[in-house]
Amino acid sequence: MKILVIGSGGREHALCWALRQNLGDDLSLLLCAPGSAGIAEVARCVPLGATDVSALADFAAAEKISLTIVGSEAPLAAGLADEFERRGLVVAGPRRVAAQLESSKAFAKEFMRRHNIPTARFHVADSALEARKMLHRGEFGPADAPVVVKADGLAAGKGVVVARTRAEGERAIEELMGGSLVAGGAARRVVIEEALEGREASLLLWTDGRDYILMPAARDHKRVGENDTGPNTGGMGAITAPDVLDEESKARVVREIVEPTLEGARADGLEFRGVLFIGLMLTADGPRALEYNVRFGDPEAQAILVRLRSNLADIFEAVAHGRLDGVRAKWSNDASACVVLAARGYPERPEAGARIEGLEGIAEQMPGVRIFHAGTTRAKDGGWLTAGGRVLGVTTTGATLETALRQCYDAVGRVRWDGMHYRRDIGQFANRFAEAAGGGAPRGIQE
Ligand SMILES: Nc1ncnc2c1ncn2[C@@H]1O[C@H](COP(=O)(O)OP(=O)(O)OP(=O)(O)O)[C@@H](O)[C@H]1O
Ligand SMILES: [Mg+2]
Repeated sequence: MKILVIGSGGREHALCWALRQNLGDDLSLLLCAPGSAGIAEVARCVPLGATDVSALADFAAAEKISLTIVGSEAPLAAGLADEFERRGLVVAGPRRVAAQLESSKAFAKEFMRRHNIPTARFHVADSALEARKMLHRGEFGPADAPVVVKADGLAAGKGVVVARTRAEGERAIEELMGGSLVAGGAARRVVIEEALEGREASLLLWTDGRDYILMPAARDHKRVGENDTGPNTGGMGAITAPDVLDEESKARVVREIVEPTLEGARADGLEFRGVLFIGLMLTADGPRALEYNVRFGDPEAQAILVRLRSNLADIFEAVAHGRLDGVRAKWSNDASACVVLAARGYPERPEAGARIEGLEGIAEQMPGVRIFHAGTTRAKDGGWLTAGGRVLGVTTTGATLETALRQCYDAVGRVRWDGMHYRRDIGQFANRFAEAAGGGAPRGIQE
């Protein structure tokens, strides 16, 4: 089996690392386009852009690739799976029409409404005038209640504004639709949405369009600063632990959201194949679907894949061939954490070129720790330099979330460069809830 992974971030490093566990040492069996200096340790990198669909298809045909796995959303929204299938190439990712579950929030919300999937109340607006009118409708709660404004299209995490007041909502409409927050017409349409309250969780699964395999539920941290302050990022950390989604809640999510989503996708002829990521809000009235993504999250992938005990290539192959029936995934029975180390200036203007110290020896001396590279490059002398906003994802498993986090931060403490920053509160949700409720922050880090 010869596998091609598309992408270059920490998520793709984790995918390549997980695939490598069952491929032996032969680098030529695992390729990554475009890959990165970190990924080059486990795969052969090919200098082709992730959205250069026809060049990638030419390459996969010429190299007789038996399975292509797509890390991020942009190639899928650009029709990579359609082009590969047209040329008889095997790909584990949804076609463009199904990728709209992520690439158009209006499409996703109308899909949820059509298939009775519990979600926040919403309206789709095609003009700022219409959006402003919608904003003041009573169904989004009283005039002083928060409201959410979302760009319809892909916006790399910058297209969602949770506005505390209607005035802030009006400003968000102007900024989104005026093009000052997101580029490329992503906000020609917006979705106005009721603001939900609760705890968030992400439930990911593989599906071949009929059968599915659930992954351990994860929780990410989007804001750059501790206690969820500062601007949004691609993700500063993620954990998996039993408390993220207890068994009873998970059963309810499966019944009310997962299965109706897969049945709805079938009924609509989407033939969804690949990884489906369901963003959830666990409210007092039950779980609500916030959003779909059509691929792994980054850094959720890192935290999830270190727990996988089955052959990842076999799972993706079954997904691509529609043979997931009877395939099982085994997971380690513990918790995991990924802490992202970022460069000075991230997310606005990250600095590149700083020398990273302390990476040597971690793999040998801390066997439970994996360091996934998101934005690094090799210095002339073989050392590592920063080359992106998110630089490294330090990832561990542990019998409990507490032990996973302790080990993770021990490893983080050995790494340094000029301008390195990270959140010290990954996995610490309990403290924040207690503070919000006016109580003292309890010790401990379980949810
Ligand atoms: N209806 C809502 N009520 C409250 N908060 C919300 C709502 N919708 C979104 N949010 C908040 O905004 C965040 C981003 O929303 P959403 O997941 O729809 O956007 P996204 O840009 O597609 O995110 P991602 O980068 O994770 O794919 C959510 O994780 C949640 O914290
Ligand atoms: Mg999304």
